[in-house]
Amino acid sequence: MSIISKDISKAADLLTAEELVAIPTETVYGLAGNIYSEKAIKCIFETKQRPFFNPLIVHIPSVEALENIVSYVPEKATQLADAFWPGPLTLVLKKNSRIPDLITAGKDTVAVRVPNHPTTLELLEALDFPLAAPSANPFGSISPTTAQHVDDYFKEKIQMVLDGGPCQRGIESTIIGFEGDEPVIYRLGSTSIEAIEAIVGPVDIKNKKEIAPDAPGMLDRHYAPSTLTILTTDISEAIELHQDKRIGVLAFQNAHKHDAITFQIVLSEANDLSEAASKLYDALHQLDKQDLDIIIAERCPDVGLGTSINDRLQRATVSS
Ligand code: TXA
Ligand code: MG
Repeated sequence: MSIISKDISKAADLLTAEELVAIPTETVYGLAGNIYSEKAIKCIFETKQRPFFNPLIVHIPSVEALENIVSYVPEKATQLADAFWPGPLTLVLKKNSRIPDLITAGKDTVAVRVPNHPTTLELLEALDFPLAAPSANPFGSISPTTAQHVDDYFKEKIQMVLDGGPCQRGIESTIIGFEGDEPVIYRLGSTSIEAIEAIVGPVDIKNKKEIAPDAPGMLDRHYAPSTLTILTTDISEAIELHQDKRIGVLAFQNAHKHDAITFQIVLSEANDLSEAASKLYDALHQLDKQDLDIIIAERCPDVGLGTSINDRLQRATVSS
């Protein structure tokens, strides 16, 4: 077991000593280390079993700190940072020469964001270095949205989980890169396409095949439970097809009734997509613990955060 604690100064001491600490953000918990410590960054990759070609996101305390990380900021990047930081938006920009190649997998760009969580903002303010933090889960598995999820995954492999309560957003940040000076969405996430387009106008979404392995969040299978999971628009039909099995259901708004269902979670009875997003990963963690034969997940409406939820469910359900 790692220590689960709210002690920000203890977390700061460990990070300063080049150790890893899992940190809360508004999206998911991150596995954090000093970006300038080769030891800490290597340890992040080893602990997560993450391939070195998969670059990390740098977390900074404020928009002003961006100038220490990047060498060039397009006008639309400034507009997006002003509109959404602190918040669940990551910008991929030209890096400056101080950013180690390990962070960026040798690329000349770096992914950076200001997370919107009071505990982690206080931690970042207290440190004199930024934090690299991928989601605190083994590579490919469901991201953690509580301190307990992180401890369940890593136990004594990390010394401390800084407890900031359950993540309010529950899905990773939206990642935006730039082609020329034009924004392109690399990964759907907790900032909706509609919200982004309201600031900078129409944006392209990169085809996942084209950008892998740049953004392995876009790899086909990712965010996946170990239980076989299928995604459908017609839960009743899927239940009929699998009724000889132990079935778990992940429903969007309405509970389904059928004798074959042994466990069911409804994401938002109020039909609220942000509530559904915030509960999604915890629901998948719970379903995965029930010793089921199959998880049947229901597609959400394909608007706003529904598009991001469906993206994650799609990746949870591609067979390996
Ligand atoms: O919400 C989040 O973004 C969370 C919290 C902890 O901040 N972090 C997160 O990190 O989701 P991670 O490592 O699980 O996903 C980061 C994604 C990866 O898919 C990586 O390939 C992509 O960001 N990425 C990082 N640097 C990049 C770069 N220079 N160009 C393209 N993609 C990049
Ligand atoms: Mg991840």
